[in-house]
Amino acid sequence: MKALIAGAGVVGSEIGFQCATGGLDVAMFDVSQKALETSRASHVAFAALFQREGRLTHAEASAALSRISYETDIAIAANDADIVSESVTETWAIKEATYRALSAHCPPKTIFTTNTSTMLPSDLAKFTDRPNRFLACHVGRPVWDAKLLEIMPHDGTDPELLDEIRAFARRIGLIPIVLLKEQAGYVSNSIIAPFIIAGLDLVMRGVATYDDVDRLWMFGTKSTYGPIAMVDLMGIQTVYNGLKNLSDTAGKTEFQPILAYLKQEFLDKGKLGVQSGEGFYTYPDPAYGRADFIS
Ligand SMILES: NC(=O)c1ccc[n+]([C@@H]2O[C@H](COP(=O)([O-])OP(=O)(O)OC[C@H]3O[C@@H](n4cnc5c(N)ncnc54)[C@H](O)[C@@H]3O)[C@@H](O)[C@H]2O)c1
Repeated sequence: MKALIAGAGVVGSEIGFQCATGGLDVAMFDVSQKALETSRASHVAFAALFQREGRLTHAEASAALSRISYETDIAIAANDADIVSESVTETWAIKEATYRALSAHCPPKTIFTTNTSTMLPSDLAKFTDRPNRFLACHVGRPVWDAKLLEIMPHDGTDPELLDEIRAFARRIGLIPIVLLKEQAGYVSNSIIAPFIIAGLDLVMRGVATYDDVDRLWMFGTKSTYGPIAMVDLMGIQTVYNGLKNLSDTAGKTEFQPILAYLKQEFLDKGKLGVQSGEGFYTYPDPAYGRADFIS
């Protein structure tokens, strides 16, 4: 089975590695050669991490890496693909261009899935030549620890695809959660977003420090990180894009002060979260990961 991962950024790279460890052939496709080089380096780093943690043997890690190819040429990447997992930048123009290109180059058998966090598959389906073989499959991060694949069809998705996608999820070691109807933000983000927004609002207005917000959350819910750490983990740019989308398209103008705060204090200073080594916390050894954080 061959998976085409469209978009070799933060999440696409994790999904590609997860597919490769599940035994699939993987083509990482991106318009940016630099993104592909970073993706390749992160795959090598994931392989080393998995060996250190005893998740993979040396032979398994090497085999997984050897199954991954890196392409800027979509015609090569799309050749004989069974499934597409799309994780390109979260803008309508880029999603549309990607689905038009995928439609032109993938064989009829290819199932298209989007990992969009904020869009609905019914709004993206029209950019594809196969709306009946298109649905959303959304991961958490890191993919291998979050473990879940939220599967969200739209009204035009062929219901018979669901069993195939459930089997795909299991094959790559993820637990399938099937939504019964479309929901912006899936189940996960529908629950989590209000907590993240409330946490950012409290910090931005100076009601509490970011680490105290997380401390309270971690203590109260027995979690390993809180809503502000989650912003770093998701990527501050991704959180910003998601809130901006809601502000621009769903009339959620109340998010504008938080958007201005994230832009001025973080994005404009190159602080993107885990990805850049600094966000609210510094990485790779964030304070919330230390044993004494909530003592
Ligand atoms: N970051 C998260 O925690 C998370 C979790 C689940 C889902 N998502 C979703 O995954 C998608 C990607 O998010 P990300 O954080 O990995 O972003 P990212 O910016 O790290 O990666 C996006 C990649 O898309 C590439 N790209 C841009 N235009 C392209 C095109 N026309 N064809 C192919 N590649 C193109 C970029 O070069 C970049 O490498 C978004 O839809 C986001 O909502 C993100």
